[in-house]
Amino acid sequence: MKKAVWLAAAAALLALPAAAQTIKIGFITSYSGLNGNLGPYMERAVRLYTKLHEKELPRGVKIELLVRDDTGPNPDKAKQLAQELIVRDKVNLLAGVIFTPNALAIAPLATEAKVPFVIMNAGTSVITTRSPYIVRVSFTLWQSCYPLGQWAAKRFKTSYTMVSDFGPGHDCEDAFARAAKENGGQVVGSVRVPLQNPDFVPFIQRVKDAKPDALMVFVPAGKTATAVLKAFSELGLKSAGVKLIGPGDVTPDEELQGMGDVALGTFTVHHYSADAERPANKAFVAAWKKEYGANEVPDFLSAASWDGMDMIFQAIKQQKGKLDPDRTMEIFKNYKNANSPRGPISIDPETRDIVQNEYLREVRKVGGRLANVELETVGTAVKDPWKELQKKK
Ligand code: PHB
Repeated sequence: MKKAVWLAAAAALLALPAAAQTIKIGFITSYSGLNGNLGPYMERAVRLYTKLHEKELPRGVKIELLVRDDTGPNPDKAKQLAQELIVRDKVNLLAGVIFTPNALAIAPLATEAKVPFVIMNAGTSVITTRSPYIVRVSFTLWQSCYPLGQWAAKRFKTSYTMVSDFGPGHDCEDAFARAAKENGGQVVGSVRVPLQNPDFVPFIQRVKDAKPDALMVFVPAGKTATAVLKAFSELGLKSAGVKLIGPGDVTPDEELQGMGDVALGTFTVHHYSADAERPANKAFVAAWKKEYGANEVPDFLSAASWDGMDMIFQAIKQQKGKLDPDRTMEIFKNYKNANSPRGPISIDPETRDIVQNEYLREVRKVGGRLANVELETVGTAVKDPWKELQKKK
């Protein structure tokens, strides 16, 4: 070969990009059905994180997001979608999932196919025990409702609980009642309302007749939370002196402005508020507004999805773009971030659940807007209390 030709060939080779490596993420969330408005709050966070951090990926590595709508709490649909993503699309990871029944339906598939499954919302404690390939970056209801019960017992003599009748509702009811009892509080009644199409009025009327000092409510974030607040207002509970309290799901940041002043004074315990003053949160919210508009705010589903992507990026970077499922799970189990928008977080390697702070918040008006204002940290580095209690048994 003549020298010039050889040089040209070598130059062409050098100019070739490294073999392109695509990480496929099967992203399942809800865009329709019950609280279908929530899906975009997760997807936007995943896309924004990817856009801002893509350049940190090993050379030639690309992320492909395969987005699917599970149509709300619909385990059959979720299972079918996960199956297709695993078998046909050959995804490296599964992620997303708002609703507990859907996460439980996907769990055995993740185990069988050895596909790591990053849960970015579904909060029933038991979920992570259903597959060694599940890791959860969101929360458990025990994490918020247990400290809420401790706090409420000191402040109110009597309380009533009202929860949606499915996994996370049952967990919240149990956690709150246990903590209240342990601290001398009295739960005078509890009701479970249907998850789909609940008519809150008769249930809230029952609560009104019982005259508790506080009503503790868990319903899924999204439009259901707004509906509960409206019913609470229409029946005049506030003026009857009943204080509304709950995990942060009842005053989610994305619903707050639409709820109106009825939300004012609601006390909640949760791990994320769009109005938190932490610099990492300010930066997150500013990036969100820049990308999606000045009136847009992320919510707790966005925060979990953002952190989940940070964890996924770590696994990709540490493995130089070639994901091995077991190695990926090891990296996930050791994930830590001192500077998440919600404060310091880590994954508990024993349970694969998130460890995070819990904050007491009150809905107040700040600069003419409703805000979940963080008042104090009621739990530091909280592990899922339900799993901690199981260990003691
Ligand atoms: C769940 O199904 O686990 C779930 C859904 C919505 C929430 C919290 C938990 O706000």
